[in-house]
Amino acid sequence: MCFITFEGPEGSGKSTQIALLDAYLRKKGHKVVMTREPGGSRVADKIRQILLDRNNKELCPNSELLLYLASRSQHLNDTVEPALEKGYIVLCDRFSDSTMAYQGYARGFDRKTIKMFNEFAASGRKPDLTILLDIDIKKGLKRAHKAKNSKDRLELEPVAFHARVRRGFRAIAAKEPKRVKLVRINSGVEAVFGRVSSLVDRLLKVKDA
Ligand code: TMP
Repeated sequence: MCFITFEGPEGSGKSTQIALLDAYLRKKGHKVVMTREPGGSRVADKIRQILLDRNNKELCPNSELLLYLASRSQHLNDTVEPALEKGYIVLCDRFSDSTMAYQGYARGFDRKTIKMFNEFAASGRKPDLTILLDIDIKKGLKRAHKAKNSKDRLELEPVAFHARVRRGFRAIAAKEPKRVKLVRINSGVEAVFGRVSSLVDRLLKVKDA
């Protein structure tokens, strides 16, 4: 049982790396669940729709924060905890660090409050490893927009917001270097995956020992 999260600004290539890691670990014989936040279970996916709908312009910062947290609690309850209990490796696209980076560093909520809310929503569950894919903001936003036809509610935020998100993620990595490993996106998908897989191999070795 092992809980690995992927974090990063928009367009950092998390979904590509998670899919590669999923295939890599299955090939090695591991049982793997791939999931994401917000969402990741039936009810949590409904909350995701509210959060990302670009028409929900009146969603206030407090509701936004509480909905991300509600989605997390539901997702842990329905998907993550049952899978960990059955011995799966859970790969999750975004988790509590996104709340700290987006709602804390970028939206401006008090970070101590976010830390407390995060702990409450996750009932103390922490990732064994977090891979932070770090990308230049303008490059990332360009990649994110290329991949989709229209921008979601968060992608519509100005560049300055996303720059604060990136600074937030980097600050989290600096504060928790043991758990959070920063991988710079400055080379091709395969080279980045080489770094990701070696971090995961190292974690699994330690877990097996
Ligand atoms: P994505 O997973 O497709 O990138 O979309 C999720 C969006 O929600 C992304 O812009 C990051 C944002 N987000 C938060 O603002 N707070 C959170 O706690 C989480 C999990 C995501």
